[in-house]
Amino acid sequence: MAKRVLVTGGAGFIPSNFIRHLLAKTPYEVVSLDALTYAGNPENLADVMAHERLSFVHGDIRDERLVREVVAEVDVIVNAAAESHVEKSIAEGGSEFVTTNVEGTQILLDAIRATPVERFILISSSEVYGTAERDPMDEEHPLNPRSPYAGTKAGADRLAYSYWATYDLPIVIVRPFNNYGPRQHPEKVIPRFITQALRDQPVTIHGDGRASRDWLYVDDDAEAIEAIIEAPIERVSGEVLNVATGLDISVLDIAELVLSLLGKPASLRVHVDERPGQVRRHIGSTDKIAELCGWRARTSFEEGLARTVAWYRDNEPWWRGILANRETRPVRGASSS
Ligand SMILES: NC(=O)c1ccc[n+]([C@@H]2O[C@H](COP(=O)([O-])OP(=O)(O)OC[C@H]3O[C@@H](n4cnc5c(N)ncnc54)[C@H](O)[C@@H]3O)[C@@H](O)[C@H]2O)c1
Repeated sequence: MAKRVLVTGGAGFIPSNFIRHLLAKTPYEVVSLDALTYAGNPENLADVMAHERLSFVHGDIRDERLVREVVAEVDVIVNAAAESHVEKSIAEGGSEFVTTNVEGTQILLDAIRATPVERFILISSSEVYGTAERDPMDEEHPLNPRSPYAGTKAGADRLAYSYWATYDLPIVIVRPFNNYGPRQHPEKVIPRFITQALRDQPVTIHGDGRASRDWLYVDDDAEAIEAIIEAPIERVSGEVLNVATGLDISVLDIAELVLSLLGKPASLRVHVDERPGQVRRHIGSTDKIAELCGWRARTSFEEGLARTVAWYRDNEPWWRGILANRETRPVRGASSS
């Protein structure tokens, strides 16, 4: 029988692309559990919602009873549900971030103590590292989270590790670097630049724009998570794995590339205040996941960005709808995460 994979947060950016990937490339059955917060958009799954191997449960990972019921039906869990916006965590504080990112993870982990699964994959984040003390950052780099978002991701990351160490459960911790691609909420930096430029509005860059990140195309991330599901469990259980490209690109360079891809003038570029808790530089070491799972990123930044820009140009109603809704609930600025 085909594996049943629970992907939490399925209507979000990375998880919806990952689900589409699983349905297209594997025989797995997929269950998605999503609370449909402001970041969850059923449109992200609209083209696959009727797929015979996908079932969608509208619910919260903090709902202990529901989580136990769903977990009892699956073999693999990919916990990707989260409050994911760095800037929102800075502007509004950490409460929702703590309950979803940490308590939600704890509820899922306790559910697999009660009903064991074949493997549990926690989608953590490279943001747990803070500013790079060395380049590239390997999985042994100290954890110095610099925003409430990153603090809660580090909490969930270490909680998952402790459940592996204490209860010997098959848990893998994955730290993706900055994803970009189709269906990313326009609060995040790359879609924000694209949607600002498409509307001929100023493309706003925090500080000098020299903050740089290791940018990972979302389909490459989907392939990495699939490779982690398929790796022998004894090889990956209890391990932390970066998902990165090993290259970094500055926010300023991205703004310039977006403007040039869209044929817009450089004068649209505007610098605004640096955000607090800014991480200056991030480059991930890619050696461990290559060695343990045979995965490496395949998409060059130029190619991924061109595909992303084309998607936003062709799917204007998708992002215009989100921006219109957001006017009733403003989220300030944007982040690189
Ligand atoms: N986007 C990135 O660059 C990046 C990088 C590294 C790690 N991550 C991590 O990857 C995961 C996915 O990120 P994303 O950018 O796709 O996020 P996203 O904000 O686009 O999607 C998050 C999804 O989780 C759902 N959700 C939120 N709270 C929930 C709850 N309590 N119960 C059930 N569902 C809930 C939302 O409705 C949404 O569909 C997150 O764990 C994030 O921390 C993201």
